[in-house]
Amino acid sequence: MNKNELINLANEAKEKSYSPYSNFRVGAALLTKDGKVYQGANIENAAYGATICAERTAAFAAKLDGVDKYSAIAITSDSEDFISPCGSCRQVLLELCGEELDVHITNGAGNVKSFKLKELLPFSFGDKNLNG
Ligand code: THU
Repeated sequence: MNKNELINLANEAKEKSYSPYSNFRVGAALLTKDGKVYQGANIENAAYGATICAERTAAFAAKLDGVDKYSAIAITSDSEDFISPCGSCRQVLLELCGEELDVHITNGAGNVKSFKLKELLPFSFGDKNLNG
């Protein structure tokens, strides 16, 4: 699966966003090392703090399926600006997917920027601090 195919799957997932409060739809597609894809979309709540981001719905679905080796995540929105994962999602992706995860972010013009998760969350706190 290449980067553009993964982005297409993130766009497909975005259609399932439940975002009546922000009207800001986000889609994610998380690729495992063995080629399976888990899609996610943001799901909001009238109690705003109970909202969950697209990246985390995808990561939690994969975790529930027992996945422990990941390759990449693509993230899309309807915004002109690049959609970059929030701090909480960076922390969760680090824990579940690892710092070598490739993160492909997109903007409305169809441009893509790619990072390693460790570039987006440098000098992180993680399991190494508790178990290592
Ligand atoms: N959101 C995501 O799903 N992912 C991000 O990376 C940033 C923000 C969602 C949360 C909320 O439903 C909406 O976008 C506006 O913040």
